Amino acid sequence: MIRSIVRGFGSALPKRVVTNREMESMVDTTDEWIVQRTGIRQRYIAGEDETSASLGESAARAALDNAGLTPDDIDLIIVATSTPDNTFPATAVNIQNRLGMKHGAAFDMQAVCTGFVYAVTTADAYIRCGLARRALVIGAETFSRILDWNDRTTCVLFGDGAGALVLEAGEGEGTSDDRGVLTAHLRSDGSHKDKLYVDGGPSSTGTVGHLRMEGREVFKHAVGMITDVIVDAFEAVKLPLEAIDWLVPHQANVRIIEGSAKKLGIPMEKVVVTVDQHGNTSAASIPLALAVAASDGRIKKGDLVLLEAMGGGFTWGSVLLRW
Ligand SMILES: CC(C)(COP(=O)(O)OP(=O)(O)OC[C@H]1O[C@@H](n2cnc3c(N)ncnc32)[C@H](O)[C@@H]1OP(=O)(O)O)[C@@H](O)C(=O)NCCC(=O)NCCS
Repeated sequence: MIRSIVRGFGSALPKRVVTNREMESMVDTTDEWIVQRTGIRQRYIAGEDETSASLGESAARAALDNAGLTPDDIDLIIVATSTPDNTFPATAVNIQNRLGMKHGAAFDMQAVCTGFVYAVTTADAYIRCGLARRALVIGAETFSRILDWNDRTTCVLFGDGAGALVLEAGEGEGTSDDRGVLTAHLRSDGSHKDKLYVDGGPSSTGTVGHLRMEGREVFKHAVGMITDVIVDAFEAVKLPLEAIDWLVPHQANVRIIEGSAKKLGIPMEKVVVTVDQHGNTSAASIPLALAVAASDGRIKKGDLVLLEAMGGGFTWGSVLLRW
């Protein structure tokens, strides 16, 4: 059977680092409060010349280099983002153009912090049914542009960045020993839409709006939703949770990550944590974390890797793949 195999990875971060100490000069907060409640120590913030499309392009080029491929080899681009450069056209076609591509198809996916999990799942479906052979799956965000910089309950949490994977069609035996995406589980429940949202949009206010969040409400639901879809993934491939080599979670808050790992009995040594360095970069956080752990040699060919995320909507989901 056809499997979608990871052929390359890449990432890009804005030039400017903003530490918690620097945040102290912007809003009424402290480094201690931010570290204790979230694990975040710094985040990257895009400059005027940096956008979701420019960061996404850099991440895509890095992933292509890592794969030993060129844009000519790609026939699908999916960009997971909630902070597109324009309302339309899609950031994906912007990146397609920046890469000099005139062939193939490119579109955006909007599932907020679960966007990358949705995008990998979608690319996998395209590849498995023969609609694409090689896909660039990109998570690219500039949440700094939709933050209310006077709201200390949200502005300290988020950062900007981009990450990308190249997925390629390959032959598998149909077993959990195959390389590539083994199973994916997507969920959403719109009854929670007012707990984490942006208070503007083209069809409602005609403005871009700012991020609003009931942090405690999000926290309350997060661990249960995340652990449910992780259990679903392992049940689907009939593997025990102990078989996991790396849990690469969405990086929102280290307490949510630790709570989820603890509930499932996954030791923290098997969990990739980058939220301390990047803050919450929404749909970019998983591919950024993958790039860190694959570059430093932790994630190796053949490893069983679980990606999971939960975010606005609520949306949540998991992808289990063999690297
Ligand atoms: C946002 C979050 C860190 C807040 O932590 P918390 O322990 O729930 O804190 P609370 O909201 O209860 O606030 C506690 C106090 O800290 C204060 N506070 C909030 N933000 C603060 C900040 N940046 N600095 C200092 N104090 C702050 C609050 O005003 C409150 O003060 P009060 O008790 O005098 O009213 C936490 O709820 C969280 O991580 N939620 C999930 C958010 C998330 O991950 N969202 C993205 C999902 S994709």
